[in-house]
Amino acid sequence: MDMFCAGAFKGRTVFVAGGSSGINLGIAHRFGEMGANVALISRSEERVAAAAEEVKATGADCIGLAADVRDFDAVSRAFAKTSERWGPIDVVISGAAGNFLSPAVGLSANAFRTVVEIDLLGTFNVMRASFDHLRKPGASLISITAGQAKRPIMFQAHASAAKAGINNLTETLAMEWGPAGIRVNAISPGPIGDTEGMARLAPTDEATNAIKRRLPLRDYGAKRDIADAALFLSSDNARYITGVVLEVDGGLLLGDSSADALTVPQRRS
Ligand code: COA
Ligand code: NAP
Repeated sequence: MDMFCAGAFKGRTVFVAGGSSGINLGIAHRFGEMGANVALISRSEERVAAAAEEVKATGADCIGLAADVRDFDAVSRAFAKTSERWGPIDVVISGAAGNFLSPAVGLSANAFRTVVEIDLLGTFNVMRASFDHLRKPGASLISITAGQAKRPIMFQAHASAAKAGINNLTETLAMEWGPAGIRVNAISPGPIGDTEGMARLAPTDEATNAIKRRLPLRDYGAKRDIADAALFLSSDNARYITGVVLEVDGGLLLGDSSADALTVPQRRS
């Protein structure tokens, strides 16, 4: 059963940073299916234009603009173009990110800075640049974080630090902008199949299977799982929810659950 009916977001405007591929493009698709107008930004003009064509195929009006989230002025221009076209912006998704596996000693200062600038500074830029263009009251801002923020993992010093900053920034903005009627939340995806992120973090079948074995729900999630959480958080049903980090992760953060509790011998009463 789908709790959202087609057209649920008709007339609303959604801005997706990092929207040319993967999870963020999946979110854009889902809002498009629900009737929203969608603006996408990413660095590559070609990739973001192709993604916009895909979203248009859902019947939505969609524009793809090239902008690097590290460049505040470029992001501001993209928001201005979006609100000139459709009016106040209802939903902002900040999901642009860069990541790779590397031990901390393999990271140059520039490598660390690059990931922090795309993920954390990029999220600040997107949220801050959106402010003057938002529907007030009523806008829903969502940052895309990751489990590393709360539970750091090895070879992810850069991404763990950046995503931890995003969680904190999300909470601060929820406090500062709540009085203006703006809700600010984060979604923390678990391992999601068919994405660049997991291709980089678990590039072999062995690594993939090891992750699945440790997850309570024993499988990767789908882009649609994250998109549905974004729809919910941006819907009127979530009108009293702000400042949360919503884990959509199959139980990942509960820890290693590879032991099968249901087959452990039970004590007789
Ligand atoms: N291990 C160690 N350092 C690495 C690295 C790796 N695997 N990949 C890149 N770096 C370093 C580079 O050597 C460079 O440091 P240096 O100048 O000291 O040599 C620094 O990171 C920046 O690299 P550069 O390629 O110039 O950055 P960019 O801005 O063009 O690209 C990245 C950013 C590196 C994050 C790139 O992987 C990217 O564009 N990613 C987007 C897609 C993605 O990561 N998706 C998954 C999202 S979870
Ligand atoms: P992806 O397909 O690589 O998506 C990253 C997007 O960000 C791309 O559209 C990329 O497009 C854009 N981007 C990168 N650097 C940018 C910059 N400087 N400015 C503007 N756009 C930029 O990755 P994904 O795996 O779907 O991940 C999407 C989000 O989910 C990320 O925030 C990631 O941390 C989070 N996440 C993913 C997983 C997972 O399982 N995949 C798990 C937890 C969290 P261009 O290259 O055109 O710029």
